[in-house]
Amino acid sequence: MLRHALLSLWLCLPAGQTGGNPMEEAALASIERVVPEPSVADLLQAAAAVRSYLDPTPLVATTADNGALLKLECWQPTGSFKVRGAIAALAALPEHARRAGVVAASAGNHGLGIAYAAMRSGIAATVVVPATASPAKVDALRRFGANLVRHGDDYDAAEVYALDLAARGATYVSAYNDTHVIAGQASIGYELNEQIDEPLTVVTPVGGGGLAAGLTLWAAGHSNVRVVGVEAEASRAVSAAAAVGQTVTVPVGATLADGLAGNIEPGSITPVVLASHDTAMIAVSEAEIRHAMRFLAGQHGLVVEGSGAVAVAALLLRKIEVVGRAVALVTGRNIALPTFADAVGGDLA
Ligand SMILES: Cc1ncc(COP(=O)(O)O)c(C=O)c1O
Repeated sequence: MLRHALLSLWLCLPAGQTGGNPMEEAALASIERVVPEPSVADLLQAAAAVRSYLDPTPLVATTADNGALLKLECWQPTGSFKVRGAIAALAALPEHARRAGVVAASAGNHGLGIAYAAMRSGIAATVVVPATASPAKVDALRRFGANLVRHGDDYDAAEVYALDLAARGATYVSAYNDTHVIAGQASIGYELNEQIDEPLTVVTPVGGGGLAAGLTLWAAGHSNVRVVGVEAEASRAVSAAAAVGQTVTVPVGATLADGLAGNIEPGSITPVVLASHDTAMIAVSEAEIRHAMRFLAGQHGLVVEGSGAVAVAALLLRKIEVVGRAVALVTGRNIALPTFADAVGGDLA
């Protein structure tokens, strides 16, 4: 579905009009979007843009591991770090593209980031969400003033529609397979430079891999920093692609870490960055994610969504070889309260 829409976009056809002819589709399927890896100049420019809109997030001590620190990205104004990439992507737009506006497909953290960044920078944003998107998320998007379009029954259908809208002139901003989004996520690293001066092991969630790729590129300029990526066991698209050197379709199971779940765009740059820098990747189970959410609520009074808790889960379980001081990124708080209560109130098993 996603691939079909991307191919339509490149050929400037409405989605659905490549359809039917298997030879045509097979030929088209070999086309992939080429997204360049951000340069050091891109990273620095993104860090400056993010700094001009957002305060640094706190770095606090935890008992999760010996001397470990938590970086509280859950306290961003949109409830997740994703706003960093959105700000960087919009800041990098040339004037004509600013005027044409941006489009994204996401009822989640990326959509909120785009809506917020667009509101702050005076750029029109259209966020396409499936008709099934939760009312709480839709309300949050409305608060930031995005032009909301409800389309399709699921995320794939919303994304297809967003890509078609973008083909008419607006810039499509992917949640992870985007040079400037990746650069924007790296701004966490530049913030850490100012908050702590020690050898570090930075532990980060991995969904589409934009955050881990950004941090990996930042860490490449620091001999005493190591990055470890943490996926949900239920959804390991990025580590699978990094391992075999190309995107592969993986099974995606149900997970509390909904922000990490799903396959990635064919030819995505994120696993390429992670593989070329040998970034370590591990995975945590659903029980381990619940355990970390419960720990963060009980020990730190934090409401953290499943995706935001996986780095802490890995630390709590001592699944990571820590060199220097561990910093776990607590990346988001956007979770419906009943889901949260269920996750932290249930058995730890
Ligand atoms: C809270 C949270 N943490 C981590 C991630 C993973 O980010 P990335 O897709 O850049 O790997 C996401 C993705 O949506 C997220 O919502």
